[in-house]
Amino acid sequence: MRLFTEIKPLKAYIAEQKREGKTIGFVPTMGYLHEGHLTLVRSAKKQADIVIVSIFVNPLQFGPKEDFSRYPRDLERDLALLQEEGVNCVFAPTAEEMYPEGFSTFVEVSGELTEVMCGKSRPGHFKGVATVVTKLFNIVTPDLAFFGQKDAQQLFIIEKLVRDLNLNVEIVRVPTRREEDGLAMSSRNTYLSPEERKAATILYRALKRGEELVLTGERNPEKLKLILEEYIKTEQRAHIDYVEVRSVPDLKPMAKIQGKFIIALAVYIGKTRLIDNFILEVE
Ligand code: PAJ
Repeated sequence: MRLFTEIKPLKAYIAEQKREGKTIGFVPTMGYLHEGHLTLVRSAKKQADIVIVSIFVNPLQFGPKEDFSRYPRDLERDLALLQEEGVNCVFAPTAEEMYPEGFSTFVEVSGELTEVMCGKSRPGHFKGVATVVTKLFNIVTPDLAFFGQKDAQQLFIIEKLVRDLNLNVEIVRVPTRREEDGLAMSSRNTYLSPEERKAATILYRALKRGEELVLTGERNPEKLKLILEEYIKTEQRAHIDYVEVRSVPDLKPMAKIQGKFIIALAVYIGKTRLIDNFILEVE
C-alpha cells in the first residue's frame, strides 16, 4: 500500500495507473476509521481497479467552537486497517499541503439544501466540505467516489455539486453501518461515556418508531416530528438539535409524506452531537 502526504507524487502515481487503463475508486474520510468507513472501502474494492482513501481532518468544515482540535486521530491504526482491506493507496496530507498560505477560493452549494438541518446548526460546514471534496476530486480524479448515507445531507450536496459543476465522477451511495443495538457507527461515538453510549441508541429507536408510524399510515410530517421529539425527550441525556421530515434528495419541506423522504435527527448526547437518518418511500 502506498502512502502519500504530498499532492505532486500522488498525482504522478494516479497518472501512471490511468495510463495502464485502471479505474480509480475514491473514499474520502477524516480518519479514525471504523466499520462504516470500511464498508465504503469494500464497495470501492468491488467496483474499481485501484482504491484510494484520503485521511484528512479538514479544518475548513469545523466551526470555531467545534471539535477540530480534539477530533480523534490515529494514522498508524488507520493505515493498518486499510492495508488489511487491500487498499492500494492512502493520501494523508497536512493542512498546509491542502491550504497553503494565501488560499482563498471556496466552493459553495447554495440554496435550501445547504441551509437546513446541519447547514443551519453548523454555518459554513458544507462550504468547507464542498471545497475540500472538490479539491480532493481534482487531485485524485476518481471514476467513482463513495459516500455514506449516514451523512445524507452531505451526500445530496456532493451529488448536486457534481451535477451543477459537471464534475467527471460518479457518486456511489453506501448504506449506513450500525452497531448491534442500532447506533450508527461514527468516529464521534468514542466521545461517549458508557452511560451516554447506552443513551445514544435513542436516535435509532426514534427512527424505528418514526418508520413504524409511517408504515401504519401517519402522513403528517409535523405530527410525526412532534411525536419523535416527545419520544427523544424521554431520554434525559438527549438534547434535540433537530428532528426533520423532508423530501429526498432536495430536502424540501412536505405538506404530506409522499414518495421518497428522509427522517433526519441531530441529537446531543451530553456534549456529543450525533446524527442519523432513515430514507424511506411511501406511495
Ligand atoms: P467522515 O466522517 O470520516 O466520513 C467519511 C465517509 O464515511 C462519509 O462518506 C461518511 O458518510 C461515511 N460514513 C461514516 N459513518 C458511516 C457509517 N456508519 N456507515 C456508512 N458510512 C459511514 O464525512 C466526512 O468524513 C467528511 O465530511 C469528508 C467527506 C471526508 C470531507 O472532509
